[in-house]
Amino acid sequence: MLNLRVMQSKIELYTTEIKSFEPKTAEELERFRIKFLGTKGIIKDLFDEFKAVSPEEKKVLGKVLNQFKQLAESVFNTFKEGFDAAVSSGQDASQDLTLPGAGLEIGSRHPLSLVRKEIVEIFKRLGFVVAEGPEIEDDWHNFSALNFPEEHPARDMQDTFFIKKNSGKDDIALRTHTSSVQVRLMEAGKPPFRALMPGRVYRNEAISARAHCFFHQIEGLYVDENVSFADLKQTLYYFVQELYGEGTKVRFRPSFFPFTEPSAEMDISCSICKGDGCQMCKQSGWVEILGCGMIDPNVLENVGIDSKKYSGFAFGMGIERITNLKYQIKDLRLFSENDIRFLKQFKSELV
Ligand code: DAH
Repeated sequence: MLNLRVMQSKIELYTTEIKSFEPKTAEELERFRIKFLGTKGIIKDLFDEFKAVSPEEKKVLGKVLNQFKQLAESVFNTFKEGFDAAVSSGQDASQDLTLPGAGLEIGSRHPLSLVRKEIVEIFKRLGFVVAEGPEIEDDWHNFSALNFPEEHPARDMQDTFFIKKNSGKDDIALRTHTSSVQVRLMEAGKPPFRALMPGRVYRNEAISARAHCFFHQIEGLYVDENVSFADLKQTLYYFVQELYGEGTKVRFRPSFFPFTEPSAEMDISCSICKGDGCQMCKQSGWVEILGCGMIDPNVLENVGIDSKKYSGFAFGMGIERITNLKYQIKDLRLFSENDIRFLKQFKSELV
């Protein structure tokens, strides 16, 4: 009698539990299955206990026990069907799966990448190849090999971000120009060289509409026997006609760079006002776009090239400047702010 009453009250309790069972997840339902219907579950235990009751009691209890088992099974099956249906319909029955998907918006190339690509393409047609170098440079590649005297102001803390500053020779800095790649290239190979070296450079400047602490340059280098200033002029003239259109005028003004002799700065007739005078060219009709010159023989000797046999020219330009002129962008900061409203305007130029 004891067994019968104990089992009946257990079944009553479990029945209440099962009737109020409302799983939120398939995992919860699985825990229910293991607890009641599993091979070591409650129903299996109850049937084991059932074996020990007297034949009279079995008559009463057998029916109750079977009904209890059927209840557990039907509750389990009902919820299981529900979860299975949700999975096969993509979890959420409230979604209309026949609707078209949300469109993917295609990004656009950064204006600086577009202009860099355009410049590289032009020089490739003249046989220039692209070379790259590290942004963290030592004193030798950024300054010394390029003929910068020890006390040159460009080495000053105000212009250069030093990572390690000791005696000068062991200094490590963020490169201040891509001219450092010239040195690496010439050290690593033998003339002739005809290379274009695009990259990011860093200068310790206060950030404003007209200056930034990093920007991008493209360096050009041509070293061979009998390279002359005429070659330099013709190469750059071709470049300007290709980039800004035929008829764009160029002029060279004498200048100074430690690594070139003679050195020059090249201006082009203002691409915006066509030389009439505007804000971009400060009413002069001309805008400066690059520095250039014949590679100083000291530089060639520094990288192990015989300066009596070989000569060369080099040039360097800021990609931001060329881009500003092309798209009339007045604030340099726009290039690095990642404002999608600015960037997506260049979508039509996607190539
Ligand atoms: N490195 C110079 C600068 O950052 C630019 C430059 C001028 C590069 C003349 C050259 C060059 O190769 O010949 O301002």
